[in-house]
Amino acid sequence: MSKNILVTGGAGYIGSHTVLQLLLGGYNVVIIDNLVNSSEIALDRVKQLASDLSHNLSFIKADLRDKEALDKLFSSTKFDAVIHFAGLKSVAESVQKPELYYDNNVTGTNNLLEVMSVHGCKMLVFSSSATVYGWPEKVPCTEEFPLSPTNPYGQTKRDIEDRCRDVQRLDGEWKIILLRYFNPVGAHPSGDIGEDPRGIPNNLMPYVQQVAVGRRPHLTMYGSDYNTKDGTGVRDYIHVVDLADGHIAALKKLFDTDIGCEVYNLGTGKGTTVLEMVTAFEKTSGKKIPLVMAGRRSGDVEVVYASTEKAELELNWKAKYGIEKMCRDQWNWASKNPYGYYSADDKE
Ligand code: NAD
Ligand code: UD1
Repeated sequence: MSKNILVTGGAGYIGSHTVLQLLLGGYNVVIIDNLVNSSEIALDRVKQLASDLSHNLSFIKADLRDKEALDKLFSSTKFDAVIHFAGLKSVAESVQKPELYYDNNVTGTNNLLEVMSVHGCKMLVFSSSATVYGWPEKVPCTEEFPLSPTNPYGQTKRDIEDRCRDVQRLDGEWKIILLRYFNPVGAHPSGDIGEDPRGIPNNLMPYVQQVAVGRRPHLTMYGSDYNTKDGTGVRDYIHVVDLADGHIAALKKLFDTDIGCEVYNLGTGKGTTVLEMVTAFEKTSGKKIPLVMAGRRSGDVEVVYASTEKAELELNWKAKYGIEKMCRDQWNWASKNPYGYYSADDKE
Protein backbone atom coordinates (compact mmCIF):
# COMPACT_ATOMS: atom_id res chain seq x y z
CA MET A 1 0.00 0.00 0.00
CA SER A 2 1.29 3.45 -0.89
CA LYS A 3 1.97 5.74 2.01
CA ASN A 4 -0.07 8.91 2.51
CA ILE A 5 2.03 12.02 3.02
CA LEU A 6 0.68 15.41 4.00
CA VAL A 7 2.83 18.23 2.62
CA THR A 8 2.25 21.64 4.18
CA GLY A 9 3.35 24.50 1.95
CA GLY A 10 3.52 22.09 -0.97
CA ALA A 11 2.62 24.73 -3.57
CA GLY A 12 5.80 26.70 -2.78
CA TYR A 13 9.25 26.56 -4.32
CA ILE A 14 10.81 23.66 -2.43
CA GLY A 15 7.43 22.06 -1.71
CA SER A 16 6.40 21.76 -5.38
CA HIS A 17 9.70 20.08 -6.32
CA THR A 18 9.42 17.70 -3.36
CA VAL A 19 5.81 16.83 -4.15
CA LEU A 20 6.83 15.88 -7.68
CA GLN A 21 9.61 13.60 -6.38
CA LEU A 22 7.15 12.05 -3.91
CA LEU A 23 4.62 11.31 -6.65
CA LEU A 24 7.31 9.84 -8.88
CA GLY A 25 8.44 7.76 -5.88
CA GLY A 26 4.97 6.20 -5.56
CA TYR A 27 3.62 8.15 -2.58
CA ASN A 28 0.09 9.58 -2.23
CA VAL A 29 0.29 13.28 -1.49
CA VAL A 30 -2.13 15.77 0.02
CA ILE A 31 -1.02 19.40 0.01
CA ILE A 32 -2.27 22.00 2.44
CA ASP A 33 -1.30 25.56 1.52
CA ASN A 34 -2.94 28.98 1.91
CA LEU A 35 -1.19 30.19 -1.30
CA VAL A 36 0.11 33.31 0.50
CA ASN A 37 3.40 32.98 -1.40
CA SER A 38 2.55 30.55 -4.19
CA SER A 39 0.25 29.73 -7.04
CA GLU A 40 -2.03 26.84 -7.86
CA ILE A 41 -0.54 26.94 -11.36
CA ALA A 42 2.58 25.33 -9.86
CA LEU A 43 0.42 22.37 -8.88
CA ASP A 44 -1.06 22.06 -12.39
CA ARG A 45 2.52 21.90 -13.68
CA VAL A 46 3.48 19.29 -11.07
CA LYS A 47 0.50 17.21 -12.21
CA GLN A 48 1.56 17.46 -15.85
CA LEU A 49 5.08 16.36 -14.93
CA ALA A 50 3.76 13.48 -12.79
CA SER A 51 1.57 12.36 -15.71
CA ASP A 52 -0.19 9.05 -14.79
CA LEU A 53 0.71 9.48 -11.13
CA SER A 54 -1.01 12.87 -10.89
CA HIS A 55 -4.21 11.28 -9.57
CA ASN A 56 -2.28 10.58 -6.35
CA LEU A 57 -2.16 14.31 -5.58
CA SER A 58 -4.84 16.43 -3.93
CA PHE A 59 -4.85 19.99 -2.70
CA ILE A 60 -6.60 21.73 0.20
CA LYS A 61 -6.46 25.50 0.38
CA ALA A 62 -6.23 26.30 4.09
CA ASP A 63 -4.09 28.08 6.66
CA LEU A 64 -2.22 26.12 9.33
CA ARG A 65 -3.46 28.61 11.90
CA ASP A 66 -6.99 27.34 11.18
CA LYS A 67 -6.99 24.41 13.60
CA GLU A 68 -10.50 23.33 12.67
CA ALA A 69 -9.51 22.92 9.04
CA LEU A 70 -6.51 20.86 10.10
CA ASP A 71 -8.63 18.69 12.36
CA LYS A 72 -11.13 18.13 9.56
CA LEU A 73 -8.36 17.09 7.20
CA PHE A 74 -6.83 14.61 9.66
CA SER A 75 -10.31 13.22 10.43
CA SER A 76 -10.93 12.48 6.76
CA THR A 77 -7.50 11.03 5.83
CA LYS A 78 -5.04 8.88 7.73
CA PHE A 79 -1.54 10.22 7.11
CA ASP A 80 1.61 8.16 7.57
CA ALA A 81 3.84 11.23 7.84
CA VAL A 82 3.92 15.00 7.36
CA ILE A 83 6.52 17.11 5.56
CA HIS A 84 6.17 20.62 6.91
CA PHE A 85 7.31 23.42 4.58
CA ALA A 86 4.59 26.00 5.26
CA GLY A 87 6.02 29.21 6.64
CA LEU A 88 6.99 32.75 5.81
CA LYS A 89 10.66 33.13 4.88
CA SER A 90 11.67 36.74 4.25
CA VAL A 91 14.34 37.88 6.71
CA ALA A 92 13.69 41.58 5.97
CA GLU A 93 9.92 41.21 6.43
CA SER A 94 10.46 39.31 9.68
CA VAL A 95 12.42 42.26 11.07
CA GLN A 96 9.53 44.60 10.15
CA LYS A 97 6.76 42.26 11.31
CA PRO A 98 8.10 39.84 13.94
CA GLU A 99 4.61 39.11 15.35
CA LEU A 100 3.44 37.95 11.96
CA TYR A 101 6.38 35.54 11.77
CA TYR A 102 5.81 34.13 15.25
CA ASP A 103 2.09 33.79 14.58
CA ASN A 104 2.39 32.25 11.14
CA ASN A 105 5.43 30.03 11.66
CA VAL A 106 5.33 29.09 15.34
CA THR A 107 1.57 29.08 15.98
CA GLY A 108 0.96 27.32 12.67
CA THR A 109 3.47 24.60 13.64
CA ASN A 110 2.05 24.25 17.16
CA ASN A 111 -1.41 23.67 15.67
CA LEU A 112 -0.02 21.09 13.29
CA LEU A 113 1.82 19.21 16.07
CA GLU A 114 -1.26 19.20 18.29
CA VAL A 115 -3.61 17.95 15.59
CA MET A 116 -1.09 15.32 14.46
CA SER A 117 -0.79 14.06 18.03
CA VAL A 118 -4.57 13.87 18.53
CA HIS A 119 -4.90 11.83 15.33
CA GLY A 120 -1.94 9.55 16.11
CA CYS A 121 0.23 10.73 13.21
CA LYS A 122 3.64 11.14 14.84
CA MET A 123 6.16 11.33 12.01
CA LEU A 124 7.39 14.71 10.84
CA VAL A 125 10.03 16.21 8.56
CA PHE A 126 10.52 19.92 9.23
CA SER A 127 12.13 22.63 7.05
CA SER A 128 14.69 24.40 9.18
CA SER A 129 17.43 26.62 7.84
CA ALA A 130 21.17 27.20 7.99
CA THR A 131 20.19 30.66 9.20
CA VAL A 132 20.04 29.13 12.73
CA TYR A 133 23.87 29.01 12.72
CA GLY A 134 24.08 32.82 12.47
CA TRP A 135 27.71 33.87 11.81
CA PRO A 136 29.49 30.57 12.57
CA GLU A 137 32.87 30.62 14.33
CA LYS A 138 34.24 28.20 11.77
CA VAL A 139 33.17 26.22 8.70
CA PRO A 140 31.94 23.74 7.66
CA CYS A 141 28.91 23.97 9.96
CA THR A 142 28.20 20.73 11.76
CA GLU A 143 24.84 19.96 13.30
CA GLU A 144 26.29 20.33 16.83
CA PHE A 145 27.23 24.00 16.36
CA PRO A 146 25.56 26.44 18.78
CA LEU A 147 22.46 28.10 17.38
CA SER A 148 22.47 31.88 17.18
CA PRO A 149 19.91 33.19 14.70
CA THR A 150 20.20 36.91 14.10
CA ASN A 151 16.65 37.80 13.01
CA PRO A 152 13.03 36.91 13.88
CA TYR A 153 12.73 34.52 10.91
CA GLY A 154 15.71 32.53 12.18
CA GLN A 155 14.37 32.67 15.72
CA THR A 156 11.10 31.07 14.59
CA LYS A 157 13.13 28.22 13.06
CA ARG A 158 15.11 27.73 16.28
CA ASP A 159 11.92 27.89 18.37
CA ILE A 160 10.21 25.28 16.20
CA GLU A 161 13.28 23.01 16.37
CA ASP A 162 13.20 23.31 20.19
CA ARG A 163 9.48 22.61 20.27
CA CYS A 164 9.95 19.49 18.13
CA ARG A 165 12.68 18.22 20.47
CA ASP A 166 10.35 18.75 23.45
CA VAL A 167 7.40 17.04 21.78
CA GLN A 168 9.53 13.98 21.01
CA ARG A 169 11.15 13.94 24.49
CA LEU A 170 7.74 13.91 26.15
CA ASP A 171 6.23 11.29 23.84
CA GLY A 172 8.67 8.70 22.53
CA GLU A 173 6.23 7.59 19.83
CA TRP A 174 7.19 10.68 17.82
CA LYS A 175 9.84 10.49 15.11
CA ILE A 176 11.04 13.85 13.82
CA ILE A 177 13.70 14.92 11.35
CA LEU A 178 14.77 18.56 11.28
CA LEU A 179 16.42 19.47 7.98
CA ARG A 180 18.62 22.57 7.87
CA TYR A 181 18.72 23.72 4.26
CA PHE A 182 21.62 25.79 2.99
CA ASN A 183 20.88 27.89 -0.15
CA PRO A 184 18.37 26.20 -2.47
CA VAL A 185 18.62 27.37 -6.10
CA GLY A 186 17.86 26.08 -9.59
CA ALA A 187 14.68 24.53 -10.87
CA HIS A 188 13.29 21.28 -12.22
CA PRO A 189 15.19 20.39 -15.44
CA SER A 190 11.92 20.54 -17.41
CA GLY A 191 11.83 24.30 -16.75
CA ASP A 192 8.14 23.95 -15.86
CA ILE A 193 8.42 24.56 -12.12
CA GLY A 194 10.80 26.88 -10.29
CA GLU A 195 11.01 29.76 -7.85
CA ASP A 196 8.60 32.64 -8.42
CA PRO A 197 9.01 35.17 -5.64
CA ARG A 198 6.40 37.89 -5.12
CA GLY A 199 7.74 41.46 -5.38
CA ILE A 200 11.44 42.28 -5.43
CA PRO A 201 13.49 39.14 -4.79
CA ASN A 202 15.60 39.10 -1.60
CA ASN A 203 17.78 36.17 -2.59
CA LEU A 204 20.65 36.16 -5.04
CA MET A 205 19.60 33.76 -7.79
CA PRO A 206 15.97 34.89 -8.21
CA TYR A 207 17.36 38.41 -8.54
CA VAL A 208 20.02 37.36 -11.07
CA GLN A 209 17.35 35.57 -13.09
CA GLN A 210 15.17 38.69 -13.24
CA VAL A 211 18.15 40.75 -14.45
CA ALA A 212 18.83 38.12 -17.11
CA VAL A 213 15.29 38.29 -18.51
CA GLY A 214 15.35 42.11 -18.53
CA ARG A 215 13.00 42.75 -15.62
CA ARG A 216 15.68 44.54 -13.56
CA PRO A 217 18.62 46.61 -14.82
CA HIS A 218 21.42 45.26 -12.64
CA LEU A 219 22.35 43.17 -9.63
CA THR A 220 23.43 45.01 -6.50
CA MET A 221 26.37 43.17 -5.01
CA TYR A 222 26.25 43.41 -1.24
CA GLY A 223 29.83 43.63 -0.02
CA SER A 224 33.18 43.09 -1.72
CA ASP A 225 35.36 43.43 1.37
CA TYR A 226 34.75 40.05 2.99
CA ASN A 227 37.70 37.92 3.93
CA THR A 228 37.12 35.52 0.99
CA LYS A 229 39.00 34.80 -2.24
CA ASP A 230 37.30 37.61 -4.21
CA GLY A 231 35.84 39.66 -1.34
CA THR A 232 32.22 38.54 -1.86
CA GLY A 233 30.20 36.34 0.50
CA VAL A 234 30.44 32.54 0.37
CA ARG A 235 27.40 30.25 0.52
CA ASP A 236 26.56 26.60 -0.01
CA TYR A 237 24.17 26.56 -2.99
CA ILE A 238 22.19 23.35 -3.42
CA HIS A 239 20.07 22.28 -6.39
CA VAL A 240 16.38 22.21 -5.40
CA VAL A 241 15.93 18.72 -6.89
CA ASP A 242 18.79 17.41 -4.71
CA LEU A 243 17.08 19.07 -1.77
CA ALA A 244 13.75 17.47 -2.70
CA ASP A 245 15.44 14.06 -2.84
CA GLY A 246 16.83 14.73 0.65
CA HIS A 247 13.24 14.74 1.89
CA ILE A 248 12.55 11.32 0.39
CA ALA A 249 15.68 10.03 2.15
CA ALA A 250 14.47 11.57 5.42
CA LEU A 251 11.02 9.96 5.04
CA LYS A 252 12.63 6.55 4.48
CA LYS A 253 14.69 7.07 7.64
CA LEU A 254 11.51 7.85 9.59
CA PHE A 255 9.71 4.78 8.30
CA ASP A 256 12.63 2.38 8.75
CA THR A 257 14.26 3.34 12.07
CA ASP A 258 13.55 4.49 15.61
CA ILE A 259 15.15 7.83 15.11
CA GLY A 260 13.72 9.97 17.90
CA CYS A 261 14.40 13.58 16.93
CA GLU A 262 17.44 14.20 14.71
CA VAL A 263 18.78 17.14 12.77
CA TYR A 264 20.58 17.04 9.41
CA ASN A 265 22.21 19.65 7.21
CA LEU A 266 21.20 19.55 3.56
CA GLY A 267 23.93 21.23 1.56
CA THR A 268 26.72 20.28 -0.83
CA GLY A 269 29.61 21.03 1.52
CA LYS A 270 31.08 23.41 -1.08
CA GLY A 271 31.36 27.17 -0.70
CA THR A 272 30.83 29.47 -3.71
CA THR A 273 31.28 33.25 -3.78
CA VAL A 274 28.66 35.63 -5.17
CA LEU A 275 31.00 36.52 -8.04
CA GLU A 276 31.60 32.86 -8.90
CA MET A 277 27.86 32.23 -8.93
CA VAL A 278 27.15 35.23 -11.17
CA THR A 279 29.97 34.25 -13.54
CA ALA A 280 28.66 30.67 -13.75
CA PHE A 281 25.18 31.99 -14.54
CA GLU A 282 26.51 34.34 -17.24
CA LYS A 283 28.37 31.46 -18.82
CA THR A 284 25.42 29.06 -18.96
CA SER A 285 22.83 31.67 -19.95
CA GLY A 286 24.96 33.76 -22.32
CA LYS A 287 23.47 36.84 -20.61
CA LYS A 288 25.51 39.66 -19.13
CA ILE A 289 24.54 40.53 -15.55
CA PRO A 290 25.49 44.18 -14.92
CA LEU A 291 26.79 44.64 -11.37
CA VAL A 292 26.55 47.59 -9.02
CA MET A 293 28.82 47.30 -6.00
CA ALA A 294 27.30 48.26 -2.65
CA GLY A 295 28.11 47.89 1.03
CA ARG A 296 27.38 44.79 3.07
CA ARG A 297 23.72 43.92 3.62
CA SER A 298 22.74 44.21 7.25
CA GLY A 299 22.57 40.79 8.92
CA ASP A 300 24.66 39.05 6.22
CA VAL A 301 27.38 36.63 7.18
CA GLU A 302 30.78 36.13 5.54
CA VAL A 303 31.13 32.41 4.88
CA VAL A 304 28.63 29.59 5.49
CA TYR A 305 28.75 26.09 4.16
CA ALA A 306 27.64 22.71 5.42
CA SER A 307 29.28 19.68 6.81
CA THR A 308 27.45 16.97 4.87
CA GLU A 309 28.86 13.93 6.65
CA LYS A 310 25.92 13.21 8.93
CA ALA A 311 23.33 13.25 6.14
CA GLU A 312 25.58 11.12 3.92
CA LEU A 313 26.17 8.54 6.64
CA GLU A 314 22.75 8.36 8.24
CA LEU A 315 20.32 9.36 5.48
CA ASN A 316 22.37 7.80 2.73
CA TRP A 317 21.86 10.99 0.74
CA LYS A 318 24.36 13.21 -1.04
CA ALA A 319 23.81 16.17 -3.35
CA LYS A 320 24.58 15.25 -6.96
CA TYR A 321 24.55 18.57 -8.80
CA GLY A 322 27.12 21.36 -9.04
CA ILE A 323 26.67 25.07 -9.68
CA GLU A 324 26.77 24.74 -13.48
CA LYS A 325 23.72 22.47 -13.46
CA MET A 326 22.01 24.76 -10.91
CA CYS A 327 22.54 27.76 -13.19
CA ARG A 328 21.51 25.87 -16.33
CA ASP A 329 18.22 24.75 -14.79
CA GLN A 330 17.60 28.16 -13.26
CA TRP A 331 18.05 29.76 -16.69
CA ASN A 332 15.90 27.15 -18.42
CA TRP A 333 13.05 27.94 -15.99
CA ALA A 334 13.61 31.72 -16.28
CA SER A 335 13.77 31.81 -20.05
CA LYS A 336 10.63 29.66 -20.40
CA ASN A 337 8.80 31.62 -17.66
CA PRO A 338 10.25 35.14 -17.48
CA TYR A 339 7.33 36.25 -15.30
CA GLY A 340 7.14 33.06 -13.30
CA TYR A 341 3.72 31.43 -13.27
CA TYR A 342 2.08 34.62 -14.59
CA SER A 343 2.37 36.93 -17.56
CA ALA A 344 4.01 40.36 -17.70
CA ASP A 345 0.57 42.03 -17.48
CA ASP A 346 -0.25 40.26 -14.22
CA LYS A 347 3.06 41.13 -12.63
CA GLU A 348 4.21 44.66 -13.48
P1 NAD B 1 7.78 29.27 -0.31
O1 NAD B 1 7.30 30.58 0.23
O2 NAD B 1 7.92 29.14 -1.77
O3 NAD B 1 6.84 28.09 0.23
C1 NAD B 1 6.18 28.15 1.46
C2 NAD B 1 4.73 27.78 1.25
O4 NAD B 1 4.03 27.82 2.49
C3 NAD B 1 4.01 28.76 0.31
O5 NAD B 1 3.36 28.03 -0.70
C4 NAD B 1 3.02 29.48 1.21
O6 NAD B 1 1.86 29.85 0.51
C5 NAD B 1 2.77 28.46 2.30
N1 NAD B 1 2.37 28.99 3.61
C6 NAD B 1 3.00 29.95 4.34
N2 NAD B 1 2.35 30.15 5.50
C7 NAD B 1 1.31 29.27 5.52
C8 NAD B 1 0.27 28.98 6.46
N3 NAD B 1 0.17 29.65 7.61
N4 NAD B 1 -0.63 28.03 6.15
C9 NAD B 1 -0.57 27.36 4.97
N5 NAD B 1 0.38 27.60 4.06
C10 NAD B 1 1.31 28.54 4.32
O7 NAD B 1 9.15 28.94 0.43
P2 NAD B 1 10.21 27.79 0.13
O8 NAD B 1 11.43 28.44 -0.38
O9 NAD B 1 9.59 26.70 -0.65
O10 NAD B 1 10.52 27.32 1.60
C11 NAD B 1 9.84 26.23 2.20
C12 NAD B 1 10.30 26.11 3.65
O11 NAD B 1 11.71 25.97 3.69
C13 NAD B 1 9.98 27.34 4.49
O12 NAD B 1 9.62 26.90 5.79
C14 NAD B 1 11.30 28.08 4.54
O13 NAD B 1 11.44 28.85 5.71
C15 NAD B 1 12.29 26.93 4.54
N6 NAD B 1 13.60 27.32 4.01
C16 NAD B 1 13.69 27.90 2.77
C17 NAD B 1 14.93 28.30 2.29
C18 NAD B 1 15.05 28.96 0.94
O14 NAD B 1 16.05 29.59 0.67
N7 NAD B 1 14.07 28.85 0.04
C19 NAD B 1 16.08 28.09 3.05
C20 NAD B 1 15.96 27.48 4.30
C21 NAD B 1 14.70 27.09 4.77
C1 UD1 C 1 19.30 34.69 3.13
C2 UD1 C 1 18.78 34.96 4.52
C3 UD1 C 1 18.76 33.64 5.29
C4 UD1 C 1 17.94 32.58 4.53
C5 UD1 C 1 18.54 32.42 3.13
C6 UD1 C 1 17.78 31.45 2.28
C7 UD1 C 1 19.42 37.29 4.99
C8 UD1 C 1 20.26 38.18 5.81
N1 UD1 C 1 19.61 35.95 5.16
O1 UD1 C 1 20.58 34.19 3.29
O2 UD1 C 1 18.21 33.83 6.57
O3 UD1 C 1 17.99 31.35 5.22
O4 UD1 C 1 18.51 33.71 2.49
O5 UD1 C 1 16.49 31.90 2.03
O6 UD1 C 1 18.57 37.73 4.23
N2 UD1 C 1 23.42 38.96 -2.56
C9 UD1 C 1 23.79 40.03 -3.34
N3 UD1 C 1 22.81 40.73 -3.99
C10 UD1 C 1 21.48 40.40 -3.90
C11 UD1 C 1 21.12 39.29 -3.11
C12 UD1 C 1 22.12 38.59 -2.44
O7 UD1 C 1 24.98 40.36 -3.44
O8 UD1 C 1 20.64 41.08 -4.51
C13 UD1 C 1 24.48 38.19 -1.87
C14 UD1 C 1 24.34 38.20 -0.36
O9 UD1 C 1 24.99 39.31 0.20
C15 UD1 C 1 24.98 36.87 0.01
C16 UD1 C 1 24.66 35.96 -1.19
O10 UD1 C 1 24.36 36.85 -2.27
O11 UD1 C 1 26.37 36.99 0.11
C17 UD1 C 1 23.48 35.04 -0.97
O12 UD1 C 1 22.37 35.83 -0.55
P1 UD1 C 1 20.91 35.20 -0.34
O13 UD1 C 1 20.51 34.45 -1.55
O14 UD1 C 1 20.01 36.30 0.12
O15 UD1 C 1 21.11 34.12 0.80
P2 UD1 C 1 21.74 34.28 2.28
O16 UD1 C 1 22.39 35.59 2.47
O17 UD1 C 1 22.57 33.08 2.52
